[in-house]
Amino acid sequence: MKTILKTENLHKVYKLGSLMRRITINALDEVNLNVQSDEPVIISLVGESGSGKTTLAKVILRLVEPTHGSAVVYDRVVAGNGARQEKREFLSAVQPIFQNPFEAFSSYRTVDSYLQTTAQRVNNLRASDAVSAMESALGSVGLKYVDVRGKYPNQFSGGELQRVSIARALIPRPQIIIADEPVSMIDASLRMNIINLFLELKQQYKTSFLYITHDLATAYYISDYIAVMYRGTIVEFGAARGVLTDPQHPYTQLLLESIPEVRRKWNRTQFAMSDIETKEYRFEGCKFRNRCPLAQEICVHQRPPAVRKEDGRDVYCHFA
Ligand SMILES: Nc1ncnc2c1ncn2[C@@H]1O[C@H](COP(=O)(O)OP(=O)(O)OP(=O)(O)O)[C@@H](O)[C@H]1O
Ligand SMILES: [Mg+2]
Repeated sequence: MKTILKTENLHKVYKLGSLMRRITINALDEVNLNVQSDEPVIISLVGESGSGKTTLAKVILRLVEPTHGSAVVYDRVVAGNGARQEKREFLSAVQPIFQNPFEAFSSYRTVDSYLQTTAQRVNNLRASDAVSAMESALGSVGLKYVDVRGKYPNQFSGGELQRVSIARALIPRPQIIIADEPVSMIDASLRMNIINLFLELKQQYKTSFLYITHDLATAYYISDYIAVMYRGTIVEFGAARGVLTDPQHPYTQLLLESIPEVRRKWNRTQFAMSDIETKEYRFEGCKFRNRCPLAQEICVHQRPPAVRKEDGRDVYCHFA
């Protein structure tokens, strides 16, 4: 089986604050994920604001260097020791889709010029072949090249522009697309179209996805696997259906019980961390222990082990 996504003791420390009051945050704290499959898969990454989802995505996309540990995507080491640096080769394996498509394109450049650059630089195509690659990628996301050609980002709606950025990500025929909250800035009425598009692309192009979201409903709908993060750690990982219908970790249970409340809390604009919350990143034992109904003394001192359940899922808890 192929290693679709694997991280080993992936760790990222951020240092914040002034010299006088230095705060360190373990945005990723020894993250171990391992997804093996012969078929393409959609892996959702969920967890409240600040849990480290974007940091994990950025490490995989090589936008951030890990403090230690490594990440493997489709049998290729992309981060940490042993990561190979050929950019073109990397971009033809791993492609991003970001939250805000208007930030992905400069307002002074036509969007097709981005697609063309990708086709020529990454795929190494001649100009005439680049056009057919663009036509085919745009066709896969329900757009026509003639309707896109010569247009600037502000001539598209958010949903259309996100489709263009998906088309751009498809041109190199990547093995995995890292999509960090790709629909959160898109009109609610159009979100499902994009989500369904991911499912189609998984079939048509055999592309896997790492889908980062605050929305448990869409995560449930599209994913094969789900990883739940809390303060830089994975608390539960397994087949999506199992994790979301029968959560075993107290944090996952809390998430599912309080979906409307969680949505409110997860809204990043309202998110400001208290000192207590920043401390949790440095907890030695379980990061969730202060909020956990099951917590005991051992949770203070010992990092919870991965407990393998019958259905193959891992629950990082002393008592779950
Ligand atoms: N460049 C940075 N410098 C310092 N700290 C950072 C940086 N980027 C992220 N952090 C901190 O690392 C932690 C994890 O952040 P991250 O953005 O990965 O979380 P997230 O799960 O993506 O959150 P959200 O749901 O809000 O997008 C947070 O405490 C954040 O403040
Ligand atoms: Mg994020």
